[in-house]
Amino acid sequence: MADTTAKRVFSGIQPSGTFTLGNYVGAVRHWAPLQQQYDCLYSVVDLHAITVRQEPALLRRATYEAAALLLATGINPDKSIIFIQSHVPQHAELAWVLACNTMFGELSRMTQFKDKSKKHVENINGGLFTYPVLMAADILLYNADYVPVGADQKQHVELSRDVAQRFNNAYSDTFVVPAPLISEQGAKVLSLQDPTAKMSKSDSNENAYVSMTDAPEVIMRKFKRAVTDSEGTVRRAEDKPGVSNLMTIYGIMTGKDDAAIEKEFAGLGYGAFKEAVGQSVVDVFSPINAEYTRILNDKPALERILKQGAERAQAMAGRTLGKVYKKVGFVQIK
Ligand code: TYM
Repeated sequence: MADTTAKRVFSGIQPSGTFTLGNYVGAVRHWAPLQQQYDCLYSVVDLHAITVRQEPALLRRATYEAAALLLATGINPDKSIIFIQSHVPQHAELAWVLACNTMFGELSRMTQFKDKSKKHVENINGGLFTYPVLMAADILLYNADYVPVGADQKQHVELSRDVAQRFNNAYSDTFVVPAPLISEQGAKVLSLQDPTAKMSKSDSNENAYVSMTDAPEVIMRKFKRAVTDSEGTVRRAEDKPGVSNLMTIYGIMTGKDDAAIEKEFAGLGYGAFKEAVGQSVVDVFSPINAEYTRILNDKPALERILKQGAERAQAMAGRTLGKVYKKVGFVQIK
């Protein structure tokens, strides 16, 4: 992070399973390129993951895997800070202060809370409710200017803005007010089985999502089974959500625009189209997976990167938290 005048980027991803194609298209694919222009911090947010019950051994493994996968997509630990959220205690500490500046009504309006509490009726815990406050702490601790996320996180980033502004008004200018960075294309990748719903790693139907680490034949099979419609023409239309979703994926993977895609598959039907979409995803994920396996197989090196990332993050987070504690009136004895 040599250039201290560069704007700052923060984003996070939950280690609650292997990343999906949705995570990649909506968020992660942007993270490495952003390093060219910004000072970036990327975090594997394990504190967020436990708002839903996790098997401890699986969470531990998924956290390493998530970090390895991020590095495999080109995040450079010499340039950016990559770390595990629970390694930087200031996240939880700032979250408390921010919680005291966030309204019950605001949190009640969060659509993700409403969705998740419907899905996990047996475990509607306090963490699930205050989750967006922790997310605000993640972002505000580093005074991030931009937060690259998929469309489903927009509301949370907007809450972070509101909380930052409220704190700044109450205690004088402290936080940078962050802005979401949401790409026009692929901000919401849809389920391959129900193209009216978001693609999600927690879907009970494995054919609904593609994992970044799925074997090529699994990826191909899932695309072959993708739900489309009965028209048989590859074109984008509101009443063709399945085909439109596949066109979005194919367009992003190959760089082709809609007109080129429609032309390419004119008269060919969905079979050839689905195969091409699957192959385009395999072509992008295969080299990432080779790199991922290499990184994961050298755990000491991976741990060194994460330890160094946490130390660098702690130094920055400590400065912000110190300021906040002082502003709210906590006694500081040197
Ligand atoms: P998470 O772990 O659910 O998802 C990580 C990123 O992937 C995006 N995403 C999608 N984009 C397009 N289509 C989809 N189907 C799709 N599914 C997921 C998400 O929008 C997200 O950008 N709360 C966050 C993690 C977080 C965070 C933060 C993000 C915690 N602290 C601070 C930014 C800044 C989450 O649960 O993402």
